[in-house]
Parts: sequence; C-alpha cells; structure tokens
Amino acid sequence: MKILVINGPNLNMLGIREPDIYGKNTYADLCELIRDYAAKKGIEVKLFQSNHEGALVDEIQAAYGNFDGIVINPAAYTHTSVAILDAVKSVGLPTVEVHISAVETREDFRQVSYIRQACIKTITGLGFDGYLGAIDALIENGK
Ligand code: DQA
Repeated sequence: MKILVINGPNLNMLGIREPDIYGKNTYADLCELIRDYAAKKGIEVKLFQSNHEGALVDEIQAAYGNFDGIVINPAAYTHTSVAILDAVKSVGLPTVEVHISAVETREDFRQVSYIRQACIKTITGLGFDGYLGAIDALIENGK
C-alpha cells in the first residue's frame, strides 16, 4: 500500500509557529514520526509540503494511479480552497483530512472545510498522532 501525506502552508514552520497551538515539535519531527509508523505498518509513504495552492493541486493530481490513499492537512487552504476539493474529487482516491489543532473550538472561519465532503474521515485536535490515525483509517479502508 502506498500513501501520500500532504501538508499545506505554514506547516513547514511547525515548532516555530504558535507552539501553544501546534506544539514544539518540528515538521522534520512529524516526517520522522510518519516514516517510522509507515515502516512499522509495512506501507510505503511519500511526504509532501507546499505553501502554494497550485503545487498542492499538482501533487494530488500526480497521485492518480500512483497511490492508494491520501492523508492531507490543507492548513489554511482547508477553509478557502475549492481547487483542492476538486483535485481530491478528480483523482477519487480515499482521503483523510487531518488537523493538528481542534479547529472546531477555534475561530468561526476555521469551521468551514471545503475538502471535508470528499474525505472518508476527518481527524482534529490529536496533534501529530492524528496523521497516524489517518494512516490507520486508510489501511482499514483498503481491507
Ligand atoms: C491546521 C488548522 C488550520 O486552521 C490552520 O490554518 C493551519 C493548521 C491544523 O493543523 O490545526 O495552518 O490545519
């Protein structure tokens, strides 16, 4: 099984940005956690991060025929991007939405998720562990 893990804008700043909300661990720490977990589960994983909406769309499109599922934290684009929603719908791959913080307890503008309607599951507020839960959900979905 091959899973693509996508992180959107400002998630490369983990550990620096708002540590009270997102924690003190870095994006490199997140990548290591995910790679170790994938190895333990015997699956292949690719990690991708971009601050650019079009680059995220390109990466989702390129997953077609090459991956069995997508884990995505679209970050701020969660709340704005029809293009990312359409890309996920276009490739038709099982996709899990992840947010490190509990977005449902934050500002009103974070209550909107365009991508959610195209996802098999949404995980919020579990910190980095949410990504591992998302991998589990894709493995379970693929059985
Ligand atoms: C986030 C929540 C978003 O509202 C925010 O814009 C992010 C990160 C999260 O992981 O909690 O950049 O997706």
